[in-house]
Amino acid sequence: MSQKILVTGGTGFIGSHTCVELQAAGYQVVILDSLYNSQKSVLDAIASISGQRSEFIQGDIRDAALLQQVFKQYQFQAVMHFAGLKAVGESVAQPLNYYDNNVAGTVTLLQAMQVADVRTFIFSSSATVYGDPQTLPIPEDHPCSATNPYGHTKLVVEEILANLYASETNWRIARLRYFNPVGAHPSGLIGEAPQGTPNNLMPYVAQVASGQRQQVSVFGNDYDTPDGTGVRDYIHVMDLAQGHVAALRYCLANEPELLTVNLGTGRGYSVLEMIEAFSRSSGKPVAYQIAPRRPGDIASCWADTRLAETKLNWRADKDIQEMCDDAWRWEGRQSN
Ligand code: NAD
Ligand code: UD1
Repeated sequence: MSQKILVTGGTGFIGSHTCVELQAAGYQVVILDSLYNSQKSVLDAIASISGQRSEFIQGDIRDAALLQQVFKQYQFQAVMHFAGLKAVGESVAQPLNYYDNNVAGTVTLLQAMQVADVRTFIFSSSATVYGDPQTLPIPEDHPCSATNPYGHTKLVVEEILANLYASETNWRIARLRYFNPVGAHPSGLIGEAPQGTPNNLMPYVAQVASGQRQQVSVFGNDYDTPDGTGVRDYIHVMDLAQGHVAALRYCLANEPELLTVNLGTGRGYSVLEMIEAFSRSSGKPVAYQIAPRRPGDIASCWADTRLAETKLNWRADKDIQEMCDDAWRWEGRQSN
């Protein structure tokens, strides 16, 4: 009998790719998603990639009665928790909605797990918890801070998980700090599908390349970086998905632990380097203009990946060209 994993937010960008990798690794997946920021058709796409249909529950992680019923119905080995809201600007405008979904929702989920005695939890945190980095690459013991409500929700949940582990040491918890996830499954069947104007660089660049938008605004070219534009650690979403499987395997195979691990490549690329790489993938130059800095942005950010390598035996291996090629294939399917 294969092990059942509950994946909240499993029809979303990172969750859907992780479901594919979980199924490839032999796990059975049950997805819980409200479809607030994703489509039901993602379930068909996951099934056509993996050849397996995931069970799906449309529902909200804040619905305690529903969670109680779900944990009664299924025997889960672990929960991977992707469900949440993630737009920084929106979090400034609607802080209560962010604390409700990301913090209260996670507490409700953890309470249901506690009652059901399911104590393996993989959490989607973010490199945003490092604030403006004091050292590069950024190690996991770098001080944490947050400059916006979204970042605060990640920090608060990280703290809640630490408090929970301190009170009940039979939990296996992984706090995975993602750097900048980009790209798509190489089939082009699943990928990132932002609603409205994309906030993040890569989906914006893809929409300019496909002719939906005129040009990319490069937010600042006067940072202390080689070409003056912001530098980030972009990680292919398939590498990230495999990082989750590695974290799950580690948690299930080892003694209870509170694990905090960076998931990045350890290499930074500038905005202009990303635009150039995407132009190569799409076969035509992506138009851009230099614009003022975006408030709250930092100059550079990339991961110290040694802990992920030693603890999880996992390393990202896809380069930026593969990230852009796969994002472009996905974009082509979207805009046709
Ligand atoms: P996404 O929006 O594509 O996926 C999140 C999914 O959760 C969506 O399908 C949405 O419908 C669902 N959801 C939201 N609130 C819910 C609720 N209350 N109950 C049930 N379902 C709900 O986002 P993503 O990019 O896949 O991100 C997944 C997780 O990773 C999030 O927690 C996000 O904060 C974190 N993260 C993302 C990035 C990134 O760049 N994408 C970086 C760091 C961390
Ligand atoms: C952003 C969020 C971060 C979140 C992450 C993943 C902010 C300040 N930070 O990170 O909290 O965890 O997304 O969701 O929003 N850029 C442009 N033009 C654009 C868009 C971006 O030049 O149209 C630049 C940015 O200035 C930055 C780089 O591209 O230098 C990457 O930006 P983005 O993709 O938004 O990610 P982050 O800002 O790193």
